[in-house]
Amino acid sequence: MSEKVYAAAPLPFMGQKRRFIKDFKRILKRFDDITAIVDLFGGSGILSHVAKHERPDVRVIYNDYDFYCDRLSHVKTTNEILSTIRPLLVDVPKDKKVPDGLKRQILSIIRGYDDAGYVDYITLSSSLLFSGKYATSYEGLSKQTMYNTMKQSGYSADGYLDGLEVVHCDYRELFARCPDKDKTLFLIDPPYLSTEVGAYKCYWKLTDYLDVLKLLQGTRFIYFTSSKSHIIDLCEWIDDNIQLGGVLNGAEIHTQTNQINYNSGFTDMMLVKA
Ligand SMILES: C[S@@+](CC[C@H](N)C(=O)[O-])C[C@H]1O[C@@H](n2cnc3c(N)ncnc32)[C@H](O)[C@@H]1O
Repeated sequence: MSEKVYAAAPLPFMGQKRRFIKDFKRILKRFDDITAIVDLFGGSGILSHVAKHERPDVRVIYNDYDFYCDRLSHVKTTNEILSTIRPLLVDVPKDKKVPDGLKRQILSIIRGYDDAGYVDYITLSSSLLFSGKYATSYEGLSKQTMYNTMKQSGYSADGYLDGLEVVHCDYRELFARCPDKDKTLFLIDPPYLSTEVGAYKCYWKLTDYLDVLKLLQGTRFIYFTSSKSHIIDLCEWIDDNIQLGGVLNGAEIHTQTNQINYNSGFTDMMLVKA
């Protein structure tokens, strides 16, 4: 396994839990009798990657539902595209709009790579679109206003997936397949509710969220959520009102605050049941 431990996903991924890594590493040590860690909603895989480094003694299964691994395996091409575009932007001030003629030139370079095979539009977006904006296709990118948000160095993902067992499936299927649930730690980081899913290929509504809660019963987990989902309020309500409740009772809560601008923000949460 590579020595390098990543502090963040090597390629941009919205919703990655890099801010929890310090806490997460510490908490993993508590699960001393487990034989497997299953990252049901792997996303960028950063939690799986860190988990494998912290716990090389256990199997770590990364559910790569979005095929992030395809993006990782095309890092060289992505770097090549960015190196071709970078010199074209020297006269465009940082964070300023790319003039239309230049935009057309950039799109034609990208089109060439698209016709020849694969383009990682999400990664290119973080060098060509306004912060937080993503495109996932050529059409999507061409419709957006371009800005010079060019990253000045190349990406590297060497050794990132080392030691991980990578699968691509629905979380329910993976959960059902796990043989020794008593000895498994589940990492559960479902998508944000539908208004916020952005670049993910899914649309999550409240009932989907509630279905995930059913998995928590009787399992050992680290569960991530946000103040925006109101899931903790909901569990408390269920607890007070019907017998279904209790899944989050006794879970320890860790928080991270995200400031969006001076007067708004939200809190991400990590709940642990050992
Ligand atoms: C909040 S993200 C996980 C982020 C991840 N923990 C990280 O740090 O990068 C949720 C992920 O669940 C994936 N997902 C959506 N529906 C899914 C499903 N039915 N089964 C498994 N994963 C799913 C999304 O595509 C997204 O990658």
